[in-house]
Amino acid sequence: MRTAFLTLGSVLLAAALIGTAIIFFGLFNVSARGGHWPAISWVLHTSYRQSVALRAPAANTVPELDDEDMVALGARHYQLSCAACHGEPGGRQLRTMTAMLPAPPRIEEAVSEWEPNELFWIIKHGVKMTGMPHWPARDRDDDIWPVVAFVSRIPRFETGQYRSLLSLENQPPASASPSLQASDTHLAVIHDCVLCHGQSGYTDNDHVPRLDILSREYLSATLKAYRDQQRSSGIMQQAASLLDDDTIEVLAAFYASSQTAPRGANISDRDPNGTLTMEEDTTAASVERGRRLATGGAASTTADSMPPSGADIPACNACHGPWPESLSPHYPALASQARQYLLAQLQLWKSGTRGGTPMAKLMHESVPELDYQQMADLSAYYSTLSGTDVTDRSLEK
Ligand code: HEC
Ligand code: HEC
Ligand code: HEC
Repeated sequence: MRTAFLTLGSVLLAAALIGTAIIFFGLFNVSARGGHWPAISWVLHTSYRQSVALRAPAANTVPELDDEDMVALGARHYQLSCAACHGEPGGRQLRTMTAMLPAPPRIEEAVSEWEPNELFWIIKHGVKMTGMPHWPARDRDDDIWPVVAFVSRIPRFETGQYRSLLSLENQPPASASPSLQASDTHLAVIHDCVLCHGQSGYTDNDHVPRLDILSREYLSATLKAYRDQQRSSGIMQQAASLLDDDTIEVLAAFYASSQTAPRGANISDRDPNGTLTMEEDTTAASVERGRRLATGGAASTTADSMPPSGADIPACNACHGPWPESLSPHYPALASQARQYLLAQLQLWKSGTRGGTPMAKLMHESVPELDYQQMADLSAYYSTLSGTDVTDRSLEK
């Protein structure tokens, strides 16, 4: 018995010494050229598959992915953040990326074996030791789903469909942006903004906020918040990561001065009964409830659980207007903003995960009492409100 233990001990010691020697004498070849031994490949691949299968969220937690605006937003993020490694659907792949170990699969192959809930998990968490990055933002599952909506659509794509998804055919012409074109040192980064926000800050994609209604001060502050990780969004943090302060000022001044149409007037091309995920109506009744809440606020319905003063819902328009002159350039305009965007932001404010400028605490105090229906009503109200429907403050009292 004793000899058996001694033999085992020496074998283990020898193994440990060999292992240490391999590490410290540099004997393990880390070259990406050779590839893995078949056995190691099998172990890695099987662990990967099983790990995703165990951890992916349940299939019934997958939201509605057949939303064309979501697919288009996902495609645009893919083009700027993923295509360099996985190639464009139907297109070619960069040679340097195919020299990675493991090489990023072409996106058509990458999606073929996985269900949407598994794709979500992979895109959210990334894959250790492969070069597949995790989603760069925290607490923003909602901005991963557009990418899942897009990649899971790829197997059904026809030739040329990807390019047409990215095309800006319905955008106002570039001539609408003279000041932006003037500063050509910034053109590369601006080109990225245009892909999602259009030539002058407005697109009809309901998940993408319009920028042409916002002030220079707010635009600048919120872009810095994304860049400096004070405001979380995997899509916008990526887009803002390389912006220096000068470029931010150029962009903020440009969008603040651009007007696609009379502010707030061109909401007619948003389908009023479109893709909003509301249980109830999105019609006049909802807009009217939103209007009452936004202009009059509401007393708390759960006053016993909170100090009554802190539990009230303030009148949103006290800060957000729309007044003829904005109350403070740090309060973003909401009139005519995209509805899905507003609803998503209100849910983020309520969950406490929407960061932003140093003014963000005003919002954290304003929203805790809102329920889902009220958020949907407020989003319906503000999105259908024309920016020209302003209130004269002198008539207020
Ligand atoms: C730096 C290069 C790189 C970038 C950028 C990248 N990936 Fe990957 N991706 C990889 C690599 C490498 C793998 C792992 C391949 C393997 O081990 O099978 C991978 C795996 C995947 C897989 C699983 C495929 C499979 O069959 O294992 C999906 C889906 C995927 N990536 C989607 C994306 C999306 C969407 C983005 C953009 C948000 C993205 N990737 C960004 C390199 C990259
Ligand atoms: C891939 C699409 C995409 C690109 C590229 C992109 N954006 Fe965005 N942008 C979005 C989305 C989606 C949001 C909403 C993000 C959120 O939920 O916080 C957003 C939000 C914003 C906001 C906040 C608006 C508000 O009402 O608070 C600003 C400002 C902005 N983007 C400016 C830019 C600028 C400037 C660029 C170019 C450097 C750019 N974006 C590039 C999609 C994009
Ligand atoms: C005391 C002033 C104040 C009140 C009251 C207020 N807000 Fe705000 N709101 C702000 C400020 C300031 C911001 C910008 C904060 C930031 O991004 O740092 C903001 C941001 C927002 C945003 C994000 C806009 C965007 O473009 O991203 C939404 C949506 C919003 N508020 C809705 C509401 C609603 C709905 C109410 C009423 C329940 C409300 N607010 C009440 C000051 C206020």
